[in-house]
Amino acid sequence: MPEKESAVMKQPVPAHVGIIMDGNGRWAKKHFQPRSMGHRAGAQNFRTITKYASKIGLKYLTVYAFSTENWSRPADEVGALMGLFKDYLREALRDFMNENIRVRFIGDVGAFSRDLQELIAEVEEVSSSKTGMVLNLAMNYGGRAEILHAARNFAEDVRAGKFEPAALTDELFDNYLYTAGQPAPDLIIRPSGEQRISNFLLWQCAYAEFVYFDILWPDFKPGDLDQAIAIYNSRQRRFGGV
Ligand code: IPE
Ligand code: IPE
Ligand code: MG
Repeated sequence: MPEKESAVMKQPVPAHVGIIMDGNGRWAKKHFQPRSMGHRAGAQNFRTITKYASKIGLKYLTVYAFSTENWSRPADEVGALMGLFKDYLREALRDFMNENIRVRFIGDVGAFSRDLQELIAEVEEVSSSKTGMVLNLAMNYGGRAEILHAARNFAEDVRAGKFEPAALTDELFDNYLYTAGQPAPDLIIRPSGEQRISNFLLWQCAYAEFVYFDILWPDFKPGDLDQAIAIYNSRQRRFGGV
């Protein structure tokens, strides 16, 4: 067993980790390659880190793969990303199915092409009986869009007479989010050196610990996840208390 794996077994792991998979473009530039190759390397690393996260016992892993703002990139880059999503979901159907991982999608997946939507539905369906780690793939995800979607649905339920407006609490609002029924993230990791949230899990991140790394996502190793968890374990969470 590699040294880094045995190291993490000795530390407790948080239940829910979020990762902003950033830095693919800069990685490609560093290697004199087109941005699409950076995304390919990033997608490959996503598989490695996901399997490792499941192995060390995370209950929930949420990865940010494509934001509601990423549509503003050049059409060839968006096209390359859509192609990669299809390749990886097809591979996931073969590969992840041997792992005890349940895959869910968060975001407005209705904006994707018909065949991508079919793959998404198939991956969710095939993995729905799994009992291990829940992997949330945030695709066409934006925290603001999620909150608006939840608010609209709650308003519809008020109009239908299900609730009074005053019935809305934190817990009830949670049920309208894409992550309904899941605990909020304990730890959010951002590789690439940026220190911002970029519209990721805005509602859910209220008390998440934030750890950033000066490492580009394709270079982010299982040992870096160990290190992020060690940093998390060294923090004192107060939730507004003393
Ligand atoms: C993250 O890498 C992947 C997506 C946002 C889809 P970037 O493509 O943002 O990489 P940088 O930030 O340009 O290096
Ligand atoms: C955040 O990265 C979105 C994903 C990693 C999917 P961006 O590269 O889009 O974020 P900004 O533009 O640097 O804030
Ligand atoms: Mg980026």
